[in-house]
Parts: sequence; C-alpha cells; structure tokens
Amino acid sequence: MFTLRPLPYDFGALEPYIDARIMELHHDKHQAAYVNNLNKALEKFPELQKKSLETLLTELDTLPENIRTAVRNNAGGDFNHTFFWEVMKKNGGGSARGQIGDEITKKFGSFDAFKQQFSGAAKTVFGSGWAWLVMDKSGDIAVVTTPNQDSPVMKGAQPILGLDVWEHAYYLQYENRRPDYIEAWWHVVDWDKVEENYRGILGK
Ligand SMILES: [Fe+2]
Repeated sequence: MFTLRPLPYDFGALEPYIDARIMELHHDKHQAAYVNNLNKALEKFPELQKKSLETLLTELDTLPENIRTAVRNNAGGDFNHTFFWEVMKKNGGGSARGQIGDEITKKFGSFDAFKQQFSGAAKTVFGSGWAWLVMDKSGDIAVVTTPNQDSPVMKGAQPILGLDVWEHAYYLQYENRRPDYIEAWWHVVDWDKVEENYRGILGK
C-alpha cells in the first residue's frame, strides 16, 4: 500500500509566499486523499500495489479498465505533489544555475525569457492543472502543461520543475489572483534540487 510521505519542511517554511495553512491543507488533506483513493483503487490488485507510482503512470494502458482513471488521477496526484514539495524550499528563488541554467539559456535565450514562458503557461492552464519544465522524449527541455493530475511521465517526459496551479494551491491566500501566486512562487524555487533533477535524468 502507498503511504503519504511527510512534507520535507514545516508548513510555514515557504511563508510569506505560500501560507502555512495552505501547505497544511494541501499536504494533509489533498495529497492524503490522493494516496487514500489510490489505495482504494488498488485494493483488489496486490501485484499493482508493489509497483512504483512512476511505473503505474507509464503503464496506465495495461491496467484493468475499471481502475485506470482512478489510478491516473490519484497516482498522478501523489506523484506530482511529492515532486512539487521537493522543488521548493525556504530562502529559495533566484535564477537557475549549473547545467540546467546553461541549458535554459541555450533553449530559451535567457533565464527571464524562460521564466516568462513558464509563467505564461501556468497562467493559461484552463481550470486545474500543472506547468512543467521537462525533458521530452527527444532529449530536449521544454515548457509544457498538463490538465488535472496528469503527469509528464505518462507521456514519457521527465519532470525537472513543476508548479501546481489548482485553486487549492493558492485560493486561501491569493483568491482568484493566480498570476500573483505564480509571481510569488518563483521566490521559493529550489534551483539546487532542479539541477539535481536534471543531472539525474542525464545520468539515466
Ligand atoms: Fe495540489
């Protein structure tokens, strides 16, 4: 069975950019629900309970049809949120560094151009979803979005950086002002972790 992994910092660590109360609800209620619902969906499939979230998501087509949507939403929800917590930290922000910093400059022209493109993508996700920096199947980095709890790994892309733009991620603090939340979020991005993610993919 899957368990809710602890948040890697305390609820207030990302203040003033993201409120402690948002982090508490987001992790303890929203992510917890994804984990519980995934376990419920897999109740009768002990062999699937042993697989990793990433494997379940990349092999959705092979799953029994009656649990496919539940696994897509809930394994996706658990996977995406754990990834999201890890690319943020207290006193984060600044610009991309290291190999990913170089790659971003090469691909987008400048860090600011990348930031603009990523923010633009995040702002225009219709309804609930995510913005990502990924390495796609061809080995190129790209800004993409996914609806609901769909994860880039479902399409064979590897996430490097991700941003949750569901209303549950910001509404208590920013109400309907998603662009303000996105702007604030850049202050908590953990670029060391982003670099680690990128190097991890290169090393695969
Ligand atoms: Fe979320």
